[in-house]
Amino acid sequence: MQRTLIALVVALIVLPFAAAHGANAPIMANNGMVVSQEEKASRIGADILANGGTAVDAAVATAFALAVTHPTAGNIGGGGFLLFRPNSGDPLAYDFRETAPAAARADMWLNEGTYDFERHHFSHLAVGVPGTVAGLHAAWQAHGRLPWKDLVAPAITLARDGFVVTHELARSLRAVLPRMSKYPASIAQFTRKGTPLEPGDVLRQPDLAETLTRIAAEGPAGFYTGRTADLMVAEMKAHQGIITHADLSAYAAKVRTPLRGTYRGLNIITMPPPSSGGVALIAMLNVLEGYPLNELGFGTTATLHRMAESMRRAFADRARYLGDPDFNPDMPVGELTSKPYATQQRASIDLARASVSDPATFTWPKESKETTHLSVVDKERNAVALTYTLEYGYGSGIVVPGAGFLLNNEMGDFNASPGLTSSEGLIGTDPNLTAPGKRMLSSMTPTILERDGQLFMVTGSPGGRTIINTVLQTVLNVVDHGMNAQTAVDAGRIHHQWLPDAIAYERHGFSLDSLNGLRALGHTLREIPYQGVAEVIIVNPETSVLEAGVDRRVPDGAAVGN
Ligand code: DON
Repeated sequence: MQRTLIALVVALIVLPFAAAHGANAPIMANNGMVVSQEEKASRIGADILANGGTAVDAAVATAFALAVTHPTAGNIGGGGFLLFRPNSGDPLAYDFRETAPAAARADMWLNEGTYDFERHHFSHLAVGVPGTVAGLHAAWQAHGRLPWKDLVAPAITLARDGFVVTHELARSLRAVLPRMSKYPASIAQFTRKGTPLEPGDVLRQPDLAETLTRIAAEGPAGFYTGRTADLMVAEMKAHQGIITHADLSAYAAKVRTPLRGTYRGLNIITMPPPSSGGVALIAMLNVLEGYPLNELGFGTTATLHRMAESMRRAFADRARYLGDPDFNPDMPVGELTSKPYATQQRASIDLARASVSDPATFTWPKESKETTHLSVVDKERNAVALTYTLEYGYGSGIVVPGAGFLLNNEMGDFNASPGLTSSEGLIGTDPNLTAPGKRMLSSMTPTILERDGQLFMVTGSPGGRTIINTVLQTVLNVVDHGMNAQTAVDAGRIHHQWLPDAIAYERHGFSLDSLNGLRALGHTLREIPYQGVAEVIIVNPETSVLEAGVDRRVPDGAAVGN
């Protein structure tokens, strides 16, 4: 009775407040929060926080769980970046991007002189040496509190006992079936003897459970050596792949100093190369800082024009200059992210006319939309922004027989071939050519903002090159347009990437007037169904409450707090 009364009183107080925020109210929590693209994985991370784990513990457990429940992008056979901001001390960036095997060569994507797209993206040669297990372990060793095996255990249970397939998982598995059909181990794992799984079916992955058990017991040695490594190398040998035992043993995650910038008095902490994301994000924010976006308004022609022009310029520089920093020691990262450079770039923007991207230089390859991001904040306000990927949805589509995990096709992120630039979408610039041991250029942009020296916002998204612009817009929506975390995630998005010279805009995201205004300025427009899947946490500066925005552009995502 007393409970019912309390519930009634709470409902009377809370409901009108919630209603005032409409559908855009963020999920709130006092202690900790995990936002990811799959609910079971978010819940596992939140439980780790509730049991005294750090943000890194929770991120690691969530990432392993996603490798089971969100196999399109969650992975142990891929790579990514984990940005960590401790509540005191310096932030760190864990780079566990895949590397090219020792036998890789810059011209390996040519077949008798002709570029071979299939080989570059869908063969065993397209597989980079995976980094995820090494990266998660390195971050945990430095910043974890709970035992490693406890972080892998929930994923083992999910893989061994299975879980109920959602509508979204059934849809995406059906879509990838043609790519997997060449690989019996993939078909065995992800279908019922060739028949697509239906929503409500149970997906069990016993081989994956075994591999995860080895990782739980031995750490990275359970993946890069021993049985898991033997199974990976056997699969390579059977299909003209080139990853060897030596490549696997040589893999090391790198700890990098995050890139820093400022935007309207806030500190931006983001991913340095081999991601292009942080450089481009800071460059765009620097340009946009010179315009009163708040006065110009969200989604107006004036604001969208300034955003698109800053994107055009940042993406041109991305293609020209960026690659693995260990192979390109002279990249002008400092200059590209400087305020004077932004002033120069701003001066080249005509506020009354779209610029023209010069198609004589280069254009872009196609890309998929499957990566995944998770944001975590713990009770002590340590924060993690983690983005990782297999590159395409389900990566190469190759499940390692007997080991139960999917291999990435990240080698496709290297440029096609030296000097090979074509209007069909190839770039042949040097910084991102294939070379042994090299990391391919990425767009993944895990990002953390500070306000008055305190943690303020954690953000990131999948979406290939659109990642950078999606992350930019979550920042602008919060900082310039005063949106809360959920509204900032919900708001319509645009994308310009220099070439093709067009603005992609989300259907229903903007008014017809704004779009027609852009056309009148000379922009070419292209409608897209949706862009990115951002997962955002904001620490409310007044109340210290954690407020999460979960991206409902796709089903299954969840923010779970405690
Ligand atoms: O690292 C990169 O930028 C790409 N391999 C990411 C691919 C991706 O985001 C696909 N999408 N969601």
